[in-house]
Amino acid sequence: MYDFKIDTIDKPSFYRELGDAADALTAGEPDPIANMANVAALLWESLPDINWAGFYRNVGGELVLGPFQGRPACIRIPFGKGVCGVAAATHEPQCVEDVHAFPGHIACDAASASELVMPIVHRGRLIGVLDLDSPVKGRFDAEDVTGCAELMAVLGPRIGG
Ligand code: SME
Repeated sequence: MYDFKIDTIDKPSFYRELGDAADALTAGEPDPIANMANVAALLWESLPDINWAGFYRNVGGELVLGPFQGRPACIRIPFGKGVCGVAAATHEPQCVEDVHAFPGHIACDAASASELVMPIVHRGRLIGVLDLDSPVKGRFDAEDVTGCAELMAVLGPRIGG
């Protein structure tokens, strides 16, 4: 049984603990889907105020839905389309305060108000993206971006082969 209790007051310590938990969950496991599934569940359980947490994988130059928690979501996203597609095309994190103001945002859950998408790059190749949605406008800030970048630095080698 895994029972991670992450209960910290500041975001940098929170993400450090989250990184340790993700490390422990994925260490020694070579299957990328299993590792993404457990990290999606960990994020879902640990992050306050989110309504979707999961992965899109780079399958032949297109984003395809991967392991996630939340409502069923759109399956395929072309690079350059929506928040995820822009993160995939640019390899740059996208921290969107108000999704309704983002040109081309793809609404999978009408409740989503803000979004953070972190590209996962391993050995120069885009493996996929981590996508977090929140019903709270402006839910994500620079500390979430840094924290998720560190988390994906741990996970990248464990899902990128
Ligand atoms: N909103 C995303 C699509 C994925 S869902 O939020 C799960 C986007 O615009 O890329």
